[in-house]
Amino acid sequence: MAGLCVLLCLGALLAGQGSADLGAVAIVEVHENVTLHCGNVTGPRGPVTWYRNDSEPVFLLSSNSSHPPASPRFSLEDAVALHVEALSLEDDGNYTCQEVLNETRWFPVWLRVARPPPSAPQCSVEVSSESATLELTCNWDGGYPDPTFLWTEEPGGVVVGDSKLQTLSPSQLSEGKKFKCVGSHIVGPASEASCVVQISSPSLASQPMKTCFMGGNVTLTCQVTGANPSAKIQWLRNLTQPEGAIQPSGHYHITQHGQGSSLTIYNCSQDLDEGFYFCRAENLVGVRAVDIWLSVKEPLNVGGIVATVVSLLLLGLAIVAGLMLYYSPVFCWKAGNTFRGQDMGDVMVLVDSEGEDEEEEDREDIEEEEQETNESEELPKETCKHGHIHRVTALVNGNLDRMGNGLQELHDDGDEELSDAVQEEDKPV
Ligand SMILES: *[C@@H]1O[C@H](CO)[C@@H](O)[C@H](O)[C@H]1NC(C)=O
Ligand SMILES: *[C@@H]1O[C@H](CO)[C@@H](O)[C@H](O)[C@H]1NC(C)=O
Ligand SMILES: *[C@@H]1O[C@H](CO)[C@@H](O)[C@H](O)[C@H]1NC(C)=O
Ligand SMILES: *[C@@H]1O[C@H](CO)[C@@H](O)[C@H](O)[C@H]1NC(C)=O
Ligand SMILES: *[C@@H]1O[C@H](CO)[C@@H](O)[C@H](O)[C@H]1NC(C)=O
Ligand SMILES: *[C@@H]1O[C@H](CO)[C@@H](O)[C@H](O)[C@H]1NC(C)=O
Ligand SMILES: *[C@@H]1O[C@H](CO)[C@@H](O)[C@H](O)[C@H]1NC(C)=O
Ligand SMILES: *[C@@H]1O[C@H](CO)[C@@H](O)[C@H](O)[C@H]1NC(C)=O
Ligand SMILES: *[C@@H]1O[C@H](CO)[C@@H](O)[C@H](O)[C@H]1NC(C)=O
Repeated sequence: MAGLCVLLCLGALLAGQGSADLGAVAIVEVHENVTLHCGNVTGPRGPVTWYRNDSEPVFLLSSNSSHPPASPRFSLEDAVALHVEALSLEDDGNYTCQEVLNETRWFPVWLRVARPPPSAPQCSVEVSSESATLELTCNWDGGYPDPTFLWTEEPGGVVVGDSKLQTLSPSQLSEGKKFKCVGSHIVGPASEASCVVQISSPSLASQPMKTCFMGGNVTLTCQVTGANPSAKIQWLRNLTQPEGAIQPSGHYHITQHGQGSSLTIYNCSQDLDEGFYFCRAENLVGVRAVDIWLSVKEPLNVGGIVATVVSLLLLGLAIVAGLMLYYSPVFCWKAGNTFRGQDMGDVMVLVDSEGEDEEEEDREDIEEEEQETNESEELPKETCKHGHIHRVTALVNGNLDRMGNGLQELHDDGDEELSDAVQEEDKPV
């Protein structure tokens, strides 16, 4: 946009009336040059003086050469018009041209210095302060004078409104609906300045269940996604009573992190705290809720667990030993023949997993044992015993976890042997 830039001039000067109310308006971009005409009249012109009309008139320039201009940016064009160079925002205002002929005439001009907003418009949607409805905002700042806006529904182009802030009616709040804002400014830009905002209801993600130990703490979390505008998150015990949302207290602590929320329950008790919790998210477009089951359990007693595991272990050993003695030697001979390979394999795996030096010797022992057994099939009873003895060694040396696994394995093994033994007995010899 080079050169003089008078975009709009309203020739509203009504000839002969001399009305100061209805003047010309010149809208010019900042940094440009402008020429303000002293009325739209033909014929001979008298000497003119230009004033700026602020609270009181300020002299700018006169055709009487004995009065120098207020600024070198001002000059007369064609002896009457005011030429202003390099406009700044401060030049915006009302100007008056005084012409002295055989009578004195006044011609007002309203100069508006304009500039378009420097960036593209930004659309957003928020819950209004009264929380009653949604408000669209078309942010397109930095322009002068203010741009104009047009909100439409997309697709379809149904006009929603023409202001920067646009309140939506409840009937317009449907999932996934898009709204488009088109910004217009008197100085452009040439291409359409617009933005689109889509409203959508919240989606929720959380764990389906949590466990708390009596007297302990537990934190339930819930994450909202896809909500536009952002959703309000509440924690509830009874979904049919949204007004009875859980409030922060000594027992409950609620933290919001972005579009996520955490509910921490302190000092869990079974009567009070076990049950369903609901995370509820609402943003006027939609409401979603997700339930989390909280179970409250007796606290873990490590000593008790160890004692239980050890006694179960001893009981299992006693049973196995008893069975072996009861069915010996037939059972051991048969089982030895049928399952020796498998049994020995089990022992090897267990001992291998220990990886301790002292176990190495044991392994060698077993290998020797195995060789012996292979050489002489006469000692199946010994094999049986060794298998279990080594297993127990591994268990006792292992930690609690391994103990658990070992115990499980021992039980499975015992069951297997037991049922096998029964089968063997049932078979006719
Ligand atoms: C404004 O006028 C001055 C002097 O005539 C000229 O040098 C300058 O280029 C003009 N500026 C614009 C933006 O046209
Ligand atoms: C000046 O006035 C004449 C008639 O009154 C009109 O045709 C013309 O457009 C006007 N010029 C401007 C710049 O307003
Ligand atoms: C502008 O100033 C002139 C000179 O004082 C005055 O006569 C005129 O009424 C003023 N116009 C406005 C719009 O203030
Ligand atoms: C120019 O201004 C001076 C000083 O105010 C005045 O004496 C003179 O008469 C004026 N000349 C014209 C042509 O108005
Ligand atoms: C210029 O004058 C018009 C009416 O004559 C008025 O509406 C407008 O606010 C004035 N502008 C400034 C910057 O004073
Ligand atoms: C004012 O001047 C114009 C020409 O400039 C002339 O036609 C007109 O008669 C004059 N009016 C008076 C009252 O002198
Ligand atoms: C539960 O949280 C409270 C407060 O942060 C803390 O003092 C207490 O030690 C926690 N209890 C357990 C079992 O972690
Ligand atoms: C939830 O609240 C309603 C209304 O007070 C009540 O009828 C219902 O039994 C409550 N449900 C549960 C699970 O507490
Ligand atoms: C935890 O709750 C039990 C009853 O549910 C209460 O007796 C105890 O004082 C509470 N402890 C704390 C630290 O609040």
